[in-house]
Amino acid sequence: MFGIGPFKQMLTMDGIPLKGALTDSQLRIISQGALIISGDTIHHVGTYDELKDQFCDLEFVTVEQNSVCLPGYIDVHTHMCWAGSRSADYARRIGGKSYLEIASEEGGINVTVKATRNASKEELKAGLRNRATRHLGEGVTSCEVKSGYGLNKESELKTLGVITEVNKELPIDLIPTVLSAHIKPYDFEGTQKEYLDYVLEEILPEVQSENLAQRADIFIDEGAFSLEEGEYFLKRAKDLGFSLTVHADQFSNGSSSLAVQYGAASADHLECISDADIDRLALSDTAAVALPGCSLGLGINFAPARKLLDRGASLVISTDWNPGSAPMGDLLLQASVLAASEKLSSAETLSAITFRAAMALGLNDRGILRKGMKADFLIYTTDDYRDILYNQGKLRPSSVWKKGVHM
Ligand code: NIG
Ligand code: FE
Repeated sequence: MFGIGPFKQMLTMDGIPLKGALTDSQLRIISQGALIISGDTIHHVGTYDELKDQFCDLEFVTVEQNSVCLPGYIDVHTHMCWAGSRSADYARRIGGKSYLEIASEEGGINVTVKATRNASKEELKAGLRNRATRHLGEGVTSCEVKSGYGLNKESELKTLGVITEVNKELPIDLIPTVLSAHIKPYDFEGTQKEYLDYVLEEILPEVQSENLAQRADIFIDEGAFSLEEGEYFLKRAKDLGFSLTVHADQFSNGSSSLAVQYGAASADHLECISDADIDRLALSDTAAVALPGCSLGLGINFAPARKLLDRGASLVISTDWNPGSAPMGDLLLQASVLAASEKLSSAETLSAITFRAAMALGLNDRGILRKGMKADFLIYTTDDYRDILYNQGKLRPSSVWKKGVHM
């Protein structure tokens, strides 16, 4: 057990409502704060003076005078396990072709499917390890990772196996999601519905029996699966016992309301969500996940984050880190840019990458600095937390602590 502090400002993110708009006065900042850490868990939160008195025999790690401490970031939507590159797609997109045009020609998800199928487990591991290590250095202490570039039983299981193994190797927590319903791959002989049956009958039960993922995702949109196919999949995946999440309303509208109807943990993308569906989402327990890195990568509008919050939704911000639409993978930069564009308060933006993100993944043991929570926290060398978003991702944490250990 040890103490750490004093932090000029400590943002615990405690006591903030799960849903709706927030003002910065709702951030209860502890000035000259400190933490007591026991193993991988936060044992106590308070002011430095208080805790020094209370734990007088304990050793305290001292920090720089101007330090801000807050919970580690949580990225709830990534496709970080892939092989190959899609720079050719990107070059064509900045030359004026749309994502859907490129996908229907020789580019798109199938390019990554071929490369990922051809990659050895070791190659895939090396790629994921690099990206996950970079993420942790930038303050992401928990991160969801989807399959979805295998798109047959063997390669989907290979991908989920890689995620499981890299999760064991690295300090960052990787939370796997099965996205075998990404698209019907180029070589599947059969209808869209037959492909979904293959996923539901051949892949998902195996994922369960090997304990490789508890969350299932589907891309419901133009070029992927229709609303009807999406509903068919969600109903059956739910019956199998998977927690659901949906790639929803990216290019066309309608799938976020399916996500709500089937009690999905989150509806992600939402660039094309309608006003009526914003209200449905806001009234539900389904989190609204904005993916600004995808909007930046595709040159399309951002999800209406301001409107979602004002109508009462739980807004989460994630990177969507993937080789096609969102190759950057910088959560803090993207959250800062979305905040400037959508007019989000610091409290809304930081909640969206800490405790509201934790709740969207069903992780109630992190995202807040509170007794009993995982000791995942970041220290920035600055005397004002507002510098974090102001620097638009360029101010990096001076130290990252994961489960009570300095990385
Ligand atoms: O979240 N929308 C679908 N899937 C990914 C993109 C995948 C790709 O283009 O490789 C996304 O944007
Ligand atoms: Fe995605």
